[in-house]
Amino acid sequence: MLQTVPNFYGKSFLCEKDFSKEEFVYLIDLAMKLKDEKKQGIPHRYLEGKNIALLFEKPSTRTRCAFTVACVDLGAHPEYLGKDDIQLGKKESIEDTAKVLGRMFDGIEFRGFEHKKVEMLAEHSGVPVWNGLTDLWHPTQTLADFLTVKENFGRLEGIKFVYVGDGRNNVANSLLVGGALVGMDVRIVAPETLFPAPEVVEMAKNLAEKSGGRVTVTADVEEGVAGADVIYTDVWVSMGEEDKFAERIALLSPYQVTMDLVNQTGNKNMIFLHCLPAFHDQETTYGKDIFANHGLAEMEVTDEVFRSEHSMVFDQAENRMHTIKAVMAATLGHIE
Ligand code: CP
Repeated sequence: MLQTVPNFYGKSFLCEKDFSKEEFVYLIDLAMKLKDEKKQGIPHRYLEGKNIALLFEKPSTRTRCAFTVACVDLGAHPEYLGKDDIQLGKKESIEDTAKVLGRMFDGIEFRGFEHKKVEMLAEHSGVPVWNGLTDLWHPTQTLADFLTVKENFGRLEGIKFVYVGDGRNNVANSLLVGGALVGMDVRIVAPETLFPAPEVVEMAKNLAEKSGGRVTVTADVEEGVAGADVIYTDVWVSMGEEDKFAERIALLSPYQVTMDLVNQTGNKNMIFLHCLPAFHDQETTYGKDIFANHGLAEMEVTDEVFRSEHSMVFDQAENRMHTIKAVMAATLGHIE
């Protein structure tokens, strides 16, 4: 593990395709090492004295907390800047804000809508920028997901990784391209109207050709989940699409992750993953509203699967912190 350290210093982390297979796998292995050090109480303060800006235009539990705790563990100072705290694009251009932030901070995390914004921050700030989710990609999520896969199966290559649900959201894009990059048998199972964009599928197929991976996009649940090692799903309605509940419920109900679907994999060792938050019961305001307005007690995954022995969702959530720490340490610290 960690035999060769790729040169990440000063590099931004915007989407999976910007990295080689070796670099992506290195980050996962580095996260594994940092996780082990954290559990043993071994300090790893690679970013002592650095200042990190955390820009959030959207709400977040995992990403915000993961970046904050990772900064503190690495010896850096995190500064949270919410959507009403700074002028980003409203009264000051992204370019000018990026230049100002780059004079004061050593690294910048961004969560927001347009992917272009995170690209502009990276172009103009002069410091590493890390994508905490945009409309197109969620690459720090992919790292945490693949770390969870490696912890459970000991490898990434050849893993049958099946995403079921809204196939054209940021998480699906990232998993499709990331899975192809590292050599997985990656499948998107979705209704045709929610298939990933053709350019994303093309990108994934090109990467799979080099890595020995496989890419499948299908509307057929039985075909898609056969032999799966991993079943993954995400919410049916993403942030900013809250008017689409009725339409998505109609389209995606046949793709709900139930125990029947889990059994269809034919793999008793399969694991269930979800980036969270999940609508698996009525313990949320949304869950109650959906039940009241649409009569659906559970959405993308049943409570039975969510709480089953197959479910690794809380290991996966914890792994957000270890993998985000690896990205920051590798791009801003000096790892030996
Ligand atoms: N999975 C994820 O990005 O969670 P948050 O929205 O809570 O950051």
